[in-house]
Amino acid sequence: MQNDIQEILISEEEIQQRIRELGAQLSIEYAGRTPLVICVLKGAFIFMADLVKVITVPVEMDFMAVSSYGASTKSSGVVKIIKDLDVPVEGRDVLIVEDIIDSGLTLSYLIELLQARNSKSISVVTLFDKPAGRTVNLEAGYTGFVLPDEFVVGYGLDYAERYRNLPYVGVLKPEIYSN
Ligand code: XMP
Ligand code: MG
Repeated sequence: MQNDIQEILISEEEIQQRIRELGAQLSIEYAGRTPLVICVLKGAFIFMADLVKVITVPVEMDFMAVSSYGASTKSSGVVKIIKDLDVPVEGRDVLIVEDIIDSGLTLSYLIELLQARNSKSISVVTLFDKPAGRTVNLEAGYTGFVLPDEFVVGYGLDYAERYRNLPYVGVLKPEIYSN
């Protein structure tokens, strides 16, 4: 698996250090409250697991699975709910945990959906952001790292469902895509 990686963009240590900083900031933002932390599956599951361990306020968690990519590397613009939330968001302080924002289509769809369900507040924390890919005007309140406009894998992010379990984020060798 490591042999398929052309370049490591962000190391395991850098990721873990940044997550501790984000956790500290979010603990201040949500002091005295109990946010409903929503993991956007599948990509955000590893980030979610590490992030909630460094948030010091009580949180409740739920999971939502959406799909816009399939096995391709570019957004189709169509967001499909694969798994909806189990708990109502009405009146809740919602924190959406995303792996990566590219076009912004997935996130803008999610925000509209949760607003329509009358959540009290919505904040977004994304570990990675590729602002060059944006087609809608949208920014996360909390961002871990800004990345160049390249397809990346690792730390939850996949290519055709593989590489999610790499502890760092990197770029695949070009020949992997042409296989
Ligand atoms: P949009 O374009 O809707 O995309 O902002 C967000 C979702 O697209 C996936 N995505 C990636 N997945 N490597 C990946 O493995 C990437 O470089 C990448 N860029 C976008 C991801 O699922 C994200 O939630
Ligand atoms: Mg994917």
